[in-house]
Amino acid sequence: MNKNLRKPVIAGNWKMNKTAAEAETLIGELIPVAKDATCETVICVPYTDLAVAVKLTAGTNIKVGAQNCHFKKSGAFTGEISAEMLKTTGVEYVIIGHSERRQYFAETDLTVNRRTKAALEAGLKVILCVGEMLSEREDGITETVVKLQTIADLTDITAEQMKNVIIAYEPVWAIGTGKVATDEQAEEVCAFIRAVLAEKYGKAVADGVVIQYGGSMNPKNAAGLLAKENIDGGLIGGASLKAEDFAALLSAATNG
Ligand code: 13P
Repeated sequence: MNKNLRKPVIAGNWKMNKTAAEAETLIGELIPVAKDATCETVICVPYTDLAVAVKLTAGTNIKVGAQNCHFKKSGAFTGEISAEMLKTTGVEYVIIGHSERRQYFAETDLTVNRRTKAALEAGLKVILCVGEMLSEREDGITETVVKLQTIADLTDITAEQMKNVIIAYEPVWAIGTGKVATDEQAEEVCAFIRAVLAEKYGKAVADGVVIQYGGSMNPKNAAGLLAKENIDGGLIGGASLKAEDFAALLSAATNG
């Protein structure tokens, strides 16, 4: 099975949660539970937690990510952080194009593409988020929306660079709502994304790309989702904030 070619990636997206002191406590709890995970384990923390996260996870198998980066190297962009700044902090991953950024911070496919390019050029691995809104699913245009996002967001990204890109399929209606996509709904779209990647980069490249599901993933539903052929991990919000839940997700990915 092609699934065996890909190492699952379980990534926590802490969103705007946890002070540095709270991060220290949670990371202290996560280190022992992540020790035996055979999946890639990532925590994407707020900027203010990056230094403590990088320091505490040094020498462990937990990787650290940020939740956004700007596309310019430096300059008059008040409140922004560049990809290079992240890289020099010791960060390995960055989430780009999360639906909350698209929804609340006017992020567009153009800026998502620019940020993706900048992150890859700085040597970061990108978790690129795509996904439809409820109205789009109800209108039957899920595939159109997801294809447009995937193609636009990956403009000028080479096949070689795709080794450092993870796609996270996050249906907007499933985020933070407790309404998880069914295993079949999630698999259908993840398989579709892989087909879009195959069209653009060829099958060999597409088969190597990790595609995550995100949206109310929790210890109860993770095993079913992660068993699907085209779902190679999860991008997890709420359940990544509790060590016990995150541990269960790591073991679902490890045993799956
Ligand atoms: P929840 O797991 O809280 O639904 O959030 C998903 C998400 O947005 C991860 O990026």
